[in-house]
Amino acid sequence: MSTQEKIEIEENFFLSGNYAPVSEEHVAEDLEVIGEIPADLKGYFMRIGPNPVFVANPAKYHIFDGDGMVHQVEFDGGKATYRNRFVDTDGLRKEREKGSWIWKGMTETMEDMAAGTPPPAEGMFKDLVNTAMVFHNDTFYGLMEGGVPHEMSLPNLDTVGPNNYEGRLNHPFTAHPKVDVETGEMMTFGYSPMPPFCTYSVINAEGELVHSTPISIPKGVMMHDCAITDKHTIFLDLPITFDFTRAMNGQKMLDWEPENGSRIGVVPRMGSDEDIKWFEIDNCMVFHVANAWEEGDEVVLLACRANKTEVGDATENANDADMDMTDQLALFTEWRMNMATGEVTERNLDPVNYGEFPRINDNLAGRKTRYTYVAGIDQNQRGTPFNREMKYDGETGDIQVHPLGEGCKGGEAIFAPRVGAVDEDDGYVILFVRDEINQTSECRVIDAKNFEAEPVARVKIPYRVPFGFHASWVAK
Ligand SMILES: [Fe+2]
Repeated sequence: MSTQEKIEIEENFFLSGNYAPVSEEHVAEDLEVIGEIPADLKGYFMRIGPNPVFVANPAKYHIFDGDGMVHQVEFDGGKATYRNRFVDTDGLRKEREKGSWIWKGMTETMEDMAAGTPPPAEGMFKDLVNTAMVFHNDTFYGLMEGGVPHEMSLPNLDTVGPNNYEGRLNHPFTAHPKVDVETGEMMTFGYSPMPPFCTYSVINAEGELVHSTPISIPKGVMMHDCAITDKHTIFLDLPITFDFTRAMNGQKMLDWEPENGSRIGVVPRMGSDEDIKWFEIDNCMVFHVANAWEEGDEVVLLACRANKTEVGDATENANDADMDMTDQLALFTEWRMNMATGEVTERNLDPVNYGEFPRINDNLAGRKTRYTYVAGIDQNQRGTPFNREMKYDGETGDIQVHPLGEGCKGGEAIFAPRVGAVDEDDGYVILFVRDEINQTSECRVIDAKNFEAEPVARVKIPYRVPFGFHASWVAK
């Protein structure tokens, strides 16, 4: 890398510090531990994130643009092993063969679309697989919402390849499908700037795509997450819109457009467009839901709600101290949709702690859950703001806070049930932590039933683990 290239990269917040990509893949066994890894913790903790190899224009690099890399800690027998691997996508292979970038980043690609500049011969978008992961039908997948699920092996994280469900998948596949552990079904959807703006699909326990229907919404929107109950699937039509006319007039193709309104759609699991019930809500942005379930006539939804978003600006500007971010930070919120009366109510569950990346005991997705774990945001920090974890008790309203410590930054945590667990919170909350002061990375294991205590184990990772997006737990 030339000095000039290095300077340009450091000018982009999301290519510097602990956002900077790593280039090497490692395996490290029998890791040093502060504390003790519980003997009843057995499985794989993983976090995926953007880790660009070739960057077309560092000044316009967006945090969504990087090639996917998975960082894994395998727990077994009181010991831990670390692995990190690139997701070996077709796009990354082609760029490696060329030795340079082929695809521009999201911002420049949308500018090119608006200007009528033709896309690369290899296709409009690179299938990055950098956002989240899911385990379904005994198969582990890396996901990105513009693309196709990529199967990866465990424990070694070899990329097996994309799965288009025998050609039946006819839409992009969200990074946040939901698996009903009781039935084995996986509910998914995709959105598009062009009609159909949203398409919903159900994949059965055997991995067959058995149901697919368009979901009509007024305009193309960025729809990042969905929710399920045991009967319904829930869609969030929120006003972060795609607009080609706007783009051709020199404005942003993806932008906050409150005039488009906000609504929650509830459709029976195997239902179609005509079966959906829409509930108009106050304008807001929800990136991530925690869970949803049925209570009599009501469908209850828990999610992290912000007043708005300017996600399209998550480039070098993210470290601009003059930007007021408060409106874009999320608070834990409940909606109750009454399927009989059509009424919807919204209730803030914590007016104090901004947070994101809500997670539950995934074995209960779609069923009533008492506990939600949310990564707490320090609103005074820029860009790397996760400095604590919250545990919400929906029965008592109690909020427990686990601070990560001075200079320590986290991210999404998952809940890993203890082997033989009975209670909902009988298990461990696990996350990667970056100690910015000592420049070290570790994986922390917190006893979920003793949430505010020190972690039971701090697994020292001998390599830098960059900040990433979503985490996953796969039991062995
Ligand atoms: Fe996400």
